[in-house]
Amino acid sequence: EKADIGVTGLAVMGSNLARNFARHGFTVALHNRTKAKTDALIKDHGDEGDFVPTTTAEEFVAALERPRRLLIMVKAGEPTDAVIAEFAPLLESGDVIIDGGNAHFEDTRRRERELREQGIHFVGTGVSGGEEGALNGPSIMPGGSAESYGSLGPMLEQIAAKAKDGKPCTTHIGPDGAGHFVKMVHNGIEYADMQLIAEAYHLLRAVAGYSPAQIAEIFRTWNDGRLDSYLIQITAEVLAHTDAATGKPFVDVVADQAEQKGTGRWTVQVALDLGVPVSGIAEAVFARSLSGHAELRAASRDLPGPRGTTLDEKAAARFADQVEQALYASKIVSYTQGFHQIQTGSEEYGWDIDLGAIASIWRGGCIIRAAFLDRITAAYASRPDLPSLLSDERFAQEIGAAQEDWRTVVAAAVQHGVPVPGFSAALAYYDALRAERLPAALTQAQRDFFGAHTYRRDDREGTFHTLWGGDRSETKAG
Ligand code: 6PG
Repeated sequence: EKADIGVTGLAVMGSNLARNFARHGFTVALHNRTKAKTDALIKDHGDEGDFVPTTTAEEFVAALERPRRLLIMVKAGEPTDAVIAEFAPLLESGDVIIDGGNAHFEDTRRRERELREQGIHFVGTGVSGGEEGALNGPSIMPGGSAESYGSLGPMLEQIAAKAKDGKPCTTHIGPDGAGHFVKMVHNGIEYADMQLIAEAYHLLRAVAGYSPAQIAEIFRTWNDGRLDSYLIQITAEVLAHTDAATGKPFVDVVADQAEQKGTGRWTVQVALDLGVPVSGIAEAVFARSLSGHAELRAASRDLPGPRGTTLDEKAAARFADQVEQALYASKIVSYTQGFHQIQTGSEEYGWDIDLGAIASIWRGGCIIRAAFLDRITAAYASRPDLPSLLSDERFAQEIGAAQEDWRTVVAAAVQHGVPVPGFSAALAYYDALRAERLPAALTQAQRDFFGAHTYRRDDREGTFHTLWGGDRSETKAG
């Protein structure tokens, strides 16, 4: 019996996806650079379904049903190119190579182009949900040709997570790099969500004076409301955890330096190139980077800060409610920014991405899964051409209702010297978009002053320049 799909690269994500396929009744060919991982998978989980262990690349390819479907689960970057170079010569026109790693979408575009010349479909796909998701149902974001989705999609729909309404958390995202682009922005939003949660925790601790265990309780109650999400839920679990060795709250013994593998950074780099203001995501990336500068932080430790007093019990409880509002409002802004980036990328690269479908497949399986995504799905369902999430009536109403508390929280943070780059960047974005007039007029006038960069006027067509070094009369430029 030939295999429906082959998986090469059997580290945790690869083996868990292989097992997920097998548990859904697919025959799965297995391959790994060293045979030990293949053997281990067969030994530990061989009884979960039909596996075909193979040793050589030739054997692996020969085990696959045609058109062949070959899933690569290796470290993103050069290892992916190396594996493609190894297998592509053994494949035939119509075969499908799937890359499930966190590849940069530009690499995916290149690989897709190169393999297309050989008639091979290359599907760069985002897979979110960590190890557990890979095994029990991830959110899957495949790019590539529509034809490849025709053969692969039904299989992915089976192994993907299901949203509450039963819909699978996967869909054809769009051609070439679209899937990896969307996964990249997913991760950028993931960074922003995590940063906002971290800021909420910091405020509840430093301003309201709550202990980690008490904050865990607060997060638990939030998780019963509109903030219901995987990340809020695990936050409560982390905060409630006590370190066995010291008896201290676990969060107090972990080094306070957050690392990153790079997808959040890519989101911001790409956003800069596309000219999309993703300030919330950018602050989240910078916050991780700042935390890692141990020497800089040590050298700055004696700088003066405000004398902060913690709130009394009643004020603390009120403050916690306000922080919930600030967190929710800031979350609306990060998703607004992230979806703006997807929309812009889609236009730039001609992907024709359905934003409502993206919200829908993020409802389950992925790290940012949340009740909130039902609302975004609903927003696009009622208006598919929604220009921005903030122009959705319900989100506009909710953020409007939250804004006063949001300001109170940011002001309290400033007064207590608690850094809230995520909350305050989100608020600045909100206020900038709302503004009747922005001081950008002054910036543009300065540009015209020192560099004759010209300006447009609100009251007349055309571009103009003022003779700043002369009699300051206005000339029509261009
Ligand atoms: C997911 C995650 C995952 C990501 C890690 C770590 O969607 O399952 O986004 O793909 O690689 O969570 O990312 P960082 O190391 O950059 O924090």
